[in-house]
Amino acid sequence: MNLERAVVIPGDGIGPEVTCAVQRILEKAGAAIEWVPHDAGLTALAAGDEVLPGDTVAAIEHHGVALKGPCTTPVGKGFSSVNVQLRKRLNLYAAVRPVRSLPGVKTRFENVDLVIIRENTEGLYSGVENEVTPGVVMSMKVASENACTRIARWAFRYATHRQRKKITVLHKANIMKLTDGLFIRCAQQIHKKEYPNIEYNELIIDAGCMRLVQDPSAFDMLLLENLYGDVVSDLCAGLIGGLGVVPGANIGDTHAVFEAVHGSAPDIAGKNVANPLALLMSAVMMLNYMADHRANPGAKAVADRLRVAYDSALEAGCKTRDLGGELGTDAFADAVIERLQ
Ligand code: NAI
Ligand code: MG
Repeated sequence: MNLERAVVIPGDGIGPEVTCAVQRILEKAGAAIEWVPHDAGLTALAAGDEVLPGDTVAAIEHHGVALKGPCTTPVGKGFSSVNVQLRKRLNLYAAVRPVRSLPGVKTRFENVDLVIIRENTEGLYSGVENEVTPGVVMSMKVASENACTRIARWAFRYATHRQRKKITVLHKANIMKLTDGLFIRCAQQIHKKEYPNIEYNELIIDAGCMRLVQDPSAFDMLLLENLYGDVVSDLCAGLIGGLGVVPGANIGDTHAVFEAVHGSAPDIAGKNVANPLALLMSAVMMLNYMADHRANPGAKAVADRLRVAYDSALEAGCKTRDLGGELGTDAFADAVIERLQ
């Protein structure tokens, strides 16, 4: 592959451990990437910087891609999420989260193959909250025709390129008639006017979640507004082995940030037990993005080599604890490296 520069943000909690493992695997796989390290989150604060330093954002704007570890967000107080800020600042409006059954990872379902598309810039993540009067607070859910249409078009275009057959919107437009109503209306219009050949349907989200855990094969692609996309991503992770195996990409028109669906997992941080696979798969998505968007076909060859290697490690029973195995983060990385061809 041609040499690429990419920003790397190790993040907080298990972030540095899994990032280091993934960088090691990528190097051994022959990925020609010059990493440009930057901080964000608690790590940036500890270094005396802002929680989302301006030079981190500027570096992603300059280099166009980043591989990012999770950043901790305090619950119920403190600064607003770095992850959300970053997506908004860089206008990374589409979150893509493929959820696929893995070889050697036994779960209730076989052959799960879903792609979640989450709107990444508005909804209840608008961050507009206030105290109306002591004891009464409110949070504003924002939907704009522009963002709803943009994410619907992005999802249908993705479906076309990836030979996907069906998009299902999960919503609550029976209750949130204006916001979720706008979301489904925009999706309906894009479907009807621009992509009538892709099958399209809608389900109210509570019943949709029940259907997902009963029979995930009834779904192909899911299109959701921000909060529902967040919740349903973790639900779907549970169908295939958990948060250790679900990658993600935050994509805009000009930049992309690749990060796992999971968070900083403070309960297991610093113990060399976290599964680096979700971030490794996110790096594979990054390589495929480089191949497609930057005319770097060699990057796809590296991505394919990585996929074969981690599949074969899992098939051989090499697994971290979250998947019922015994390997630590580094030992799993070694098992993948041994199988690189
Ligand atoms: P979490 O995803 O960090 O952890 C949930 C559970 O899954 C924990 O039991 C954890 O040990 C396990 N887990 C997660 N990733 C794993 C991995 N790679 N290998 C093995 N086990 C793994 O979610 P939680 O605990 O709700 O959030 C922790 C922090 O992460 C919070 O501050 C939250 O705001 C932040 N967060 C950040 C995200 C991001 O940077 N994009 C996304 C989600 C949460
Ligand atoms: Mg989440």
